[in-house]
Amino acid sequence: MELSVFVSAFLLCVVNAGIPHDGIHWTYAEGALDQMHWPTKYPACGGKKQSPIDIQRRRVRHNPDMLQLELNGYDAQKGTFLMSNNGHSVQIDLPPTMVITKGLPGKYTAVQMHLHWGGWDLEASGAEHTVDGIRYMAELHVVHYNSDKYNSFTEARDKPDGLAVLAFFYDDGHFENTYYSDFISTLDKIKYAGQSMNISNIDVRSMLPENLNHFFRYQGSLTTPPCYESILWTVFDTPITLSHNQIRKLESTLMDMDNKTLWNDYRIAQPLNDRVVESSFLPRLGKGTFCRQDEIESRLHKIEGLITSLGKHMHSGGFRNPRPATYESRGLFPLVLNFQEQNAGSYALARLSHPMDLSAFTVCMHVLPQLKGLTPLSPMPVTAMTTS
Ligand SMILES: *[C@@H]1O[C@H](CO)[C@@H](O)[C@H](O)[C@H]1NC(C)=O
Ligand SMILES: *[C@@H]1O[C@H](CO)[C@@H](O)[C@H](O)[C@H]1NC(C)=O
Repeated sequence: MELSVFVSAFLLCVVNAGIPHDGIHWTYAEGALDQMHWPTKYPACGGKKQSPIDIQRRRVRHNPDMLQLELNGYDAQKGTFLMSNNGHSVQIDLPPTMVITKGLPGKYTAVQMHLHWGGWDLEASGAEHTVDGIRYMAELHVVHYNSDKYNSFTEARDKPDGLAVLAFFYDDGHFENTYYSDFISTLDKIKYAGQSMNISNIDVRSMLPENLNHFFRYQGSLTTPPCYESILWTVFDTPITLSHNQIRKLESTLMDMDNKTLWNDYRIAQPLNDRVVESSFLPRLGKGTFCRQDEIESRLHKIEGLITSLGKHMHSGGFRNPRPATYESRGLFPLVLNFQEQNAGSYALARLSHPMDLSAFTVCMHVLPQLKGLTPLSPMPVTAMTTS
């Protein structure tokens, strides 16, 4: 589902960008109130349970009892949703029909979602949480308040059990993520700090990764002033993929309150102190390398796809008789090769139908000798490794 958008100019309006009367506003990196100095004006920012953090997978405590989240009303919604440039990020206000009904201590109602990104130079990623020190391109925060205990976000936001945020990382890839196309192209219409517009459709679920089973959980804070320590964080391991161009557009379109390009709007990792990060899954650790499970799974899928396409181009033959012998392929698998009895040195030749980025692959097969007058032996597994 797409995010379709009212583009009419009359819907654009400039709202109060929230600049305080003393003229000093907080920033990430410049001026008197950059992130190092937030605690001078916002004491909670100097607390012991601040966010974001670096998630060190070796120190995470696996908790198999953590329930999967149940997201209600996250699918396509029609209505009027305010999308604004608040000078620090792009924010979309979410309807109270979006509720987390399971997986958290209580019911949590959605309030808004916003992003953090980098872009200051070509190398700069801008996610807030890092995983084993690695910073992803960008990060999405979907903010909720505890509606079992509090009547509004405003009432809940400074209470220890007031808020829950779902955080998702963005990765860059080769393909356009069409669920983000309208969102990204709408950024142009809220270029300046304080601008906002209404969008008429939203489908938050489609903007999230398919797999929501792998997540980290810890107690932390708002990542912007006033930094209240009121958030139960759920940081998902599976990233959302956008194309290079979509990431670049996100990083270079909006302006901040000083009318400069809004980039690197992330806070650096805060000390974990005595907190423990829990995980819903067992993070697979490589030998000191950054090796994600979903990355491995996606590579295995790709290899599986390549091997399936190999099946179509399999021929069998013998040393003396290179002509392909018969083979049956009902569908693609199992692929049955019939080697002729008289060809002791039979082989199967796999020809690539197109260039493939594969340096090795493994073939597993069962050999069923069918000699006349003898009952077949039990299947014998054979594994062949070919390296090109
Ligand atoms: C968005 O819609 C709301 C409610 O219909 C309206 O009050 C508000 O002025 C609109 N905002 C913009 C920027 O069009
Ligand atoms: C930012 O710059 C643009 C173009 O120069 C101008 O139209 C706009 O009024 C400025 N906005 C602010 C908030 O200064």
